[in-house]
Amino acid sequence: MTDHYAVIGHPISHSKSPLIHKLFAEQTGQDIEYERIEAPIDGFEKTVRDLQGKGYKGCNVTVPFKFEAFAIANRRSERAATAQAVNTLKFDGDMFGDNTDGAGLVHDIEENLGVRLKGKRVLLMGAGGASYGVTLPLLQTHCTLTVANRTVEKAIKLAAAFSGVQASNYADLAEKQFDVVVNATSSGLSDELPPLPPGVFSEGALAYDMMYGKETPFMSFARANGAAVADGLGMLVEQAAEAFYIWRGIRPDTRPVIAKLRS
Ligand code: ATR
Repeated sequence: MTDHYAVIGHPISHSKSPLIHKLFAEQTGQDIEYERIEAPIDGFEKTVRDLQGKGYKGCNVTVPFKFEAFAIANRRSERAATAQAVNTLKFDGDMFGDNTDGAGLVHDIEENLGVRLKGKRVLLMGAGGASYGVTLPLLQTHCTLTVANRTVEKAIKLAAAFSGVQASNYADLAEKQFDVVVNATSSGLSDELPPLPPGVFSEGALAYDMMYGKETPFMSFARANGAAVADGLGMLVEQAAEAFYIWRGIRPDTRPVIAKLRS
């Protein structure tokens, strides 16, 4: 019997998740259907309860509903609890909420890009929901983590929520260098560059933008300053693989899927 899943967001028409899960299902021989659903802005919970009532097994959740998904879950993983946001719900009698974004980022950096994070100096730019989502999994790699934000109070608040995170503004980065710089700001959406000093990239640094589908000003800036550059397409596929594993107990091979999406 076919098991049903969906991704819920607003808007959702651009989502690549149905294609990614279709490729995972073909590869692993799992009998699933996965569709996009646009919930009304004030209708997220009803949409989820309807799916649960129809016998769906779970869903992914994207902008702007990850906080509401956190609120309606009645069991949550530690990484969802620290993110205060849920991108994966599993309907297993209960409503289990998890957040696979940070694991997706870490897998992409370590496994696909071959950069071990242990002992590395990592700079995370931004202190919004995207940063909260990835902070615990980053810390668990035993890297040294600094969070920089334009509004420094938000970086300080994030650092206070996780032990082991240093908060900074951008100006104070002038004398510092990092091995990995992750852009978790929304600056790319408006074609802006966070006010990063050009010397922040160490020799051989990786600059990682969580956005995908376009060259952001951060990516161009990092390239011009000698860093290796990656976009967030690998993270997208890896967070999906982690959700697939939660639902199906099988971890798909992400590399052919990433390659197919790039081609
Ligand atoms: P998300 O859920 O995607 O993280 P958010 O909570 O609105 O979205 O947070 C957006 C983040 O991008 C914030 O950290 C924001 O910085 P401020 O808190 O100072 O506003 C950051 N951001 C957006 N545009 C930026 C820019 N041009 N330069 C630097 N940071 C930017």
